[in-house]
Amino acid sequence: MQWWNAGVVYQVYIRSFADSNGDGIGDINGLRSRLGYLSDLGVDAIWVNPWYQSPLNDGGYDVSDYRAIEPRFGTLADAEALITEAHAHGIKVVVDLVPNHTSSEHRWFQEALGSTKESVARSRYHFRPGKGADSEEPPTNWSSVFGGSAWTRLADGDWYLHLFDSTQPDLNWENQEVRTEMEQVMRFWLDRGADGFRIDVAHGLVKDMSYPDHAEEQEILISSQASDHPFWDRDGIHPIVRQWRQLLDEYDDRILVAEAWVAADSLPRYLRPDEYHQSFNFDFLSGSWDAAQMQQLIASSLDAVAAVEATPTWVLSNHDVVRHATRLGLPQDTDWRRWLLDGPHQILDTDLGLARARAAVMFMLALPGSVYLYQGEELGLHEVWDLPDEVLDDPVWERSGHTMKGRDGCRVPIPWAVEGPSLGFGSGPAWLPQPEWFGAASVEAQQAQPGSTLELYRAALALRSKHLVGDAEAEWLDAPEGVIGFRRGSGVECWLNVSGQTMTLPTDREILLTSTSVGHELPVNSAAWLK
Ligand code: NOJ
Repeated sequence: MQWWNAGVVYQVYIRSFADSNGDGIGDINGLRSRLGYLSDLGVDAIWVNPWYQSPLNDGGYDVSDYRAIEPRFGTLADAEALITEAHAHGIKVVVDLVPNHTSSEHRWFQEALGSTKESVARSRYHFRPGKGADSEEPPTNWSSVFGGSAWTRLADGDWYLHLFDSTQPDLNWENQEVRTEMEQVMRFWLDRGADGFRIDVAHGLVKDMSYPDHAEEQEILISSQASDHPFWDRDGIHPIVRQWRQLLDEYDDRILVAEAWVAADSLPRYLRPDEYHQSFNFDFLSGSWDAAQMQQLIASSLDAVAAVEATPTWVLSNHDVVRHATRLGLPQDTDWRRWLLDGPHQILDTDLGLARARAAVMFMLALPGSVYLYQGEELGLHEVWDLPDEVLDDPVWERSGHTMKGRDGCRVPIPWAVEGPSLGFGSGPAWLPQPEWFGAASVEAQQAQPGSTLELYRAALALRSKHLVGDAEAEWLDAPEGVIGFRRGSGVECWLNVSGQTMTLPTDREILLTSTSVGHELPVNSAAWLK
């Protein structure tokens, strides 16, 4: 068994985790100072969002130098020290790699801007003449995931492709130099002890080089269902991944995780034995709070990965989606991306959302496979949905013409303390304002408080490593309508009451943990582990 087969990976959005120097921006030394917290929480690994040199137009997913650390986050020496210290705590470090695009400030793009049409420098990206007599129309009608056209025009008439912000030009993966460079970047970090990579936009690298039109609005983190799409999920991706895998296999114990928003039947192709070790399973995140649907989704996820002998993964939140405590507190079928801006906001039931979030995480942690947690979910944090327009930083806000609020509400700096200029995040105000209710949700407020969400996570992770990681089996149990039950190889059972009546749990079993303390009565929107 490898560490990732049942690993708990904690996602650190570095900019918002802990600020060591009081500039309001989280940094590597802040993270280093909190490794003790992560080790007490019981995580096996951290995945750190991009920390490379970057203008931070898209929170660091716009890399200007893959071998340097963004000075606002620290130095290369800090990153090396972090890896060493994390390892000393028994925590692996997964680095976020962004191969689909660079920042427009990357030396390659700067060189391309200063070069002629059809130059070698431009061939590293997708530069094209436009349509129309004067090249005035974009080369295709492709739209950017963040809104607007996916093409931007230069003064000399050439257009360049950017599936995201205009400061994130897409690299041309048909270009051998691009491939070689990214492999060298991988070695650079593996040689420094990184335990693997989370690959950004893993489904987007390869484009249809005949550049056909394709009318479809792109939306972040929604998979395209179209077959033969001009830029998503093309067959040419897989040989690239196989090369990477060979490279990783030269090292011990390293992992490749795909961020691939593709149709469910396409995902296993990324997980063949010579490709990725894991891919995020976004179906679970996107699923609704309905027992039959959840059970069906889990069964098909387990079957899909079993067919290629890969590990299942589960995730409820990340830095791109509305926090799950909030999503689960909204009426079924609310489009939470649009709800952020359009509301009505009074339909959010925060208590209901938190109760469901606590139950959902216990359910997820009991499933076979590995789990990704997003910083702050262990505090039961809700989305900060009411950030004022003037502080919004996500490029989605501007590019969508203020029709989509974007992803800042799940990226508000973590409250470590009940009081203080940024609630223990740093010594000055944080880069995004923290709401008043954050102090009461802080680590300090929840630490050692029986029944707090933080203590629930700690207890669950400790019990998980004892009872729930030894095997990959889950046997469904007979359950009343609206309830899901399954038993793991250790004999430990997990029960989740989604929408049924209060359920009496089998009284001949010892209760290990519940998301609400009620003896053997399991109320709606709660979960229990029994032995
Ligand atoms: C997916 C990342 O998770 C997201 O935050 C980013 O904006 C896009 N990829 C573009 O890199």
